[in-house]
Amino acid sequence: MSSSEHDTQNSPLRLGILISGSGTNLQALINAIESNRLPGVEIALVVSNKAGAQGLQRALKHNIPAIFLPWSRRNVGTQGTAPGEMRIAGTQGIASKSGMAESEARLTALLHLFQIDLIVLAGWMRILSAAFLEQFSQRIINIHPALLPGDGTGSTYITSDGTQIPVFRGLHAVKQALDAGVKVTGSCVHYVTPEVDAGPVICREEVTIEEGDTEETLHERLKMVEHRLIVEAVSHHEREYALDRAPHDAGRTYFSGERASGGDQRSG
Ligand code: GRF
Repeated sequence: MSSSEHDTQNSPLRLGILISGSGTNLQALINAIESNRLPGVEIALVVSNKAGAQGLQRALKHNIPAIFLPWSRRNVGTQGTAPGEMRIAGTQGIASKSGMAESEARLTALLHLFQIDLIVLAGWMRILSAAFLEQFSQRIINIHPALLPGDGTGSTYITSDGTQIPVFRGLHAVKQALDAGVKVTGSCVHYVTPEVDAGPVICREEVTIEEGDTEETLHERLKMVEHRLIVEAVSHHEREYALDRAPHDAGRTYFSGERASGGDQRSG
């Protein structure tokens, strides 16, 4: 998948959106496209690793191709057999693609088939391997419900009021913020790199934690913010993509750290 697959000046940026659940961020993108707030962008495919994900229904309701892709979490081989998978007697390690590698190969084939330009991880709850990510370098973005420094790395973040807080990565980032007792958290959209939740930030916004907030109430408020951020991030990428398609701009680097808003005086 490269910009050369779409070499006409007017071809839209085709999104492939990966989900695992409710798909409210997907809905935000659908709404933005349908109300002309994301010109030059279309959703070409939605993939879910969960058959019952509400996001699949949201996509189908808007005539967007939506596919359930069963996903194996790990490879079969010397590390053991993934649940529900058969180990072939006499095989040592991975003789052919199996488990997660096979899931990723199927996903790769789908993304190429649907000529996806930008992959959006919108609540996708599966780790993607470095080999998979390498194929789509600078073409995968993720929404994370916590604040990351501009370049995505490091263990601390300085909020706009000058307070240093830890960076919360991985699962349950909303709960991690509550448990840590911080007063401010937020959400961001960032490019995906092999290290989990550690890629360059495109945009982000702080959210104040209120007295009595639970994981649910705080996550709801974070999602409100995310619904704006995801549209802004796709719009940013689309502009870069349009530039990339311009004849004199080949080889342009996509990420520009200065676009990240809010505090970013990372010290760790
Ligand atoms: C969002 O809060 C996002 O930050 C996290 O997963 C959630 C997805 O929500 N990665 P939804 O499925 O878009 O409603």
